[in-house]
Amino acid sequence: MPAKPVAAKSAPTAPTFDSDTKAAAMAELRARVIPCIKCPNLASSRTQVVFGVGDIHAQLMFVGEAPGADEDEQGEPFIGKAGQLLTKIIQAMALSRETVYIANILKCRPDTPGQTAGNRKPTPAEMETCKPYLLEQIRIIQPRAIVALGATAIDGLLGKTEGISKLRGSWQEFQGIPLMPTYHPAYLLRNQALSEKRKVWEDMLLVMEKLGMPISEKQRNFFLKA
Ligand code: URA
Repeated sequence: MPAKPVAAKSAPTAPTFDSDTKAAAMAELRARVIPCIKCPNLASSRTQVVFGVGDIHAQLMFVGEAPGADEDEQGEPFIGKAGQLLTKIIQAMALSRETVYIANILKCRPDTPGQTAGNRKPTPAEMETCKPYLLEQIRIIQPRAIVALGATAIDGLLGKTEGISKLRGSWQEFQGIPLMPTYHPAYLLRNQALSEKRKVWEDMLLVMEKLGMPISEKQRNFFLKA
């Protein structure tokens, strides 16, 4: 008797969504996140929830820490000074805010009671509470690569705390998706050295290579000494 054919074991894959299903899933998620009151302190201090912005079919996703004052006011991630720098980085990659997806670990601005200015880092409890929303965004978008901006994003996504300067520039993996840690643009605003800009740019070149994007000679040489 011929041996029974053995069914090939396929590796578990993330569910794939068609365009309409993706849009419906993201709309349903947004409708759940916008009225979220899981962190009562943040729900009462925020102007609004900052859900995320960009193309739900994007190949590339950027993940930051949490909204600041500008983002809280306007309801969009990364539109303050650090956000404007991130937009420039995205444009230098020959992409746009509309063709990537941008989100944060925390969807609400961390409250700063008694302070009139400044931000604070999300607490571990806030991150754990909010993280499922980001995970759902990633599950729906299924990007081909993620850029984690700064230590909080890396801690939130990978649980790694060994320091951004050690991790940046080396591929990590988040649920099977290649993840590139790099400095937060706010760091580049504080440290204007060309060498630091170049480090972030080298990380972005690795991302472009991973995505099979064309890279011009001019792009390769950005932020190198003349
Ligand atoms: N910093 C972040 O990490 N996220 C924003 O949306 C804005 C500033």
